[in-house]
Amino acid sequence: MEKLEMEKIVNYCKQYGFVYQGSEIYGGLANTWDYGPLGCRLKNNVKDLWRKRFIQENKNSYEIDADILMHPKVWEASGHTTSFSDPLVDCKNCKSRYRADNLISGYTNLVNPDLMSDEEMIRYIRDNQIQCPKCGKSDFTDIREFNLMFETYRGVVRGDKNGLVYLRPETAQGEFVNFLNVQRTMRAKVPFGIGQIGKSFRNEITPGNFTFRTIEFEQMEHQFFCKEGTDSGFYKFYKEYAMNFCRDLGIDTDKLRYHDHDKLAHYAKEACDIEYLFPMGWGELWGTHNRTNYDLRRHQEYSGVSQEYLDPLDNTKYIPYVIESSVGCDRLTLALLCDSYREEDLGDGTTREVMGFIPALAPYKVAILPLVKKYHSEYAKELKEKLSKYFMCTYDETGSIGKRYRRCDAIGVPYCITVDDETFNQGTVTLRDRDTMEQIVLPVEEIEEYVMERIQF
Ligand code: GAP
Repeated sequence: MEKLEMEKIVNYCKQYGFVYQGSEIYGGLANTWDYGPLGCRLKNNVKDLWRKRFIQENKNSYEIDADILMHPKVWEASGHTTSFSDPLVDCKNCKSRYRADNLISGYTNLVNPDLMSDEEMIRYIRDNQIQCPKCGKSDFTDIREFNLMFETYRGVVRGDKNGLVYLRPETAQGEFVNFLNVQRTMRAKVPFGIGQIGKSFRNEITPGNFTFRTIEFEQMEHQFFCKEGTDSGFYKFYKEYAMNFCRDLGIDTDKLRYHDHDKLAHYAKEACDIEYLFPMGWGELWGTHNRTNYDLRRHQEYSGVSQEYLDPLDNTKYIPYVIESSVGCDRLTLALLCDSYREEDLGDGTTREVMGFIPALAPYKVAILPLVKKYHSEYAKELKEKLSKYFMCTYDETGSIGKRYRRCDAIGVPYCITVDDETFNQGTVTLRDRDTMEQIVLPVEEIEEYVMERIQF
């Protein structure tokens, strides 16, 4: 298959109802995307499987749903008000705006901008005459640090600084500030985890590449609270736990790699990203961080409320260390869309497009297809209604059966069920497998069990 371009995925997603441009009828709002019926199902399945793996099957893990708006002091304590910024430069000629680190990494991989100060970056850009990707000139402003948090105001007076609140730039702080609430109400013993799925907002300077980097996105984050000394073992565990999850979702292992950080954030002891080979190149998919006890210490300092845990095992008091596992739900969904798409040569001069999602991820598990609309549609519709109690089904009665199979392949339906005369005569249907295209004959009363068994994760 020829190299998959992002533009192809964007068009495909629109054509089949996965993702649309946000506010499209008004000309669109740049870098906002709306999930259509198929994309919404896919993303919900991603969230359900994360929840299963990180909360349900994970020892001592609890899910919360914290508010997007938090006390402004939370963001002072976390360091976001002072240091959650990107190094911004403007091209003096065409006024295009860039991240200085991106300009350097787009120019060379011989130096790592993560290890450079702002002064070093701008000197490097000027010394090497790095050009503006848009106009080709090399004339940039000095670097300004640009805070990525969205501000808004509560109360009746617009712009009143006392009413200033932020749209959260990460869900993690909701987990930190609820550490003691969860520990006490769940009678949880360290080590234990708190996870949540929710929206985050960042005023990104350079959003783009479809849903890879947007200003509004969903995160799935999990903080594991543990005793100092056990932290590195759990860090390794969660690094592998995340990678195994990606593999179990069916992502091609050749397109996944670890990237251990050279430069650690001031609070981090160990940090690693899982990267995926997106159509535009390798990009961060999932972060695992050993955050030490920095976050809880800072919240203790700023709130004045002790965050110490009294360990019943040895009666010692300590502030737990945290291992963070953090992934963008939209970014993971994008990786799955890119990874699942394939074009197959059928050897008879025709091709088919397939979204090869594992059955647990597929938006529709089953398609019900009456062979001849006139004769079989009434029964097929009843069957769809019956099976819809157990899993998502779709129904299609238009066009030839071959064309309907192709449409189902293109949206990733793993099983097509055809209702024909044998359904009336023998009580059987034909079940076609998306990947092998093989067909089997199955008694109607066995469909539910057959499909249920195969859509488990
Ligand atoms: N609490 C830690 C944290 O937020 P991060 O690396 O900034 O760490 C975690 O974000 C994950 O969230 C990333 O690995 C990525 O999958 C996703 N993410 C971050 N910024 C994003 C954006 N602007 N658009 C889409 N996803 C984003």
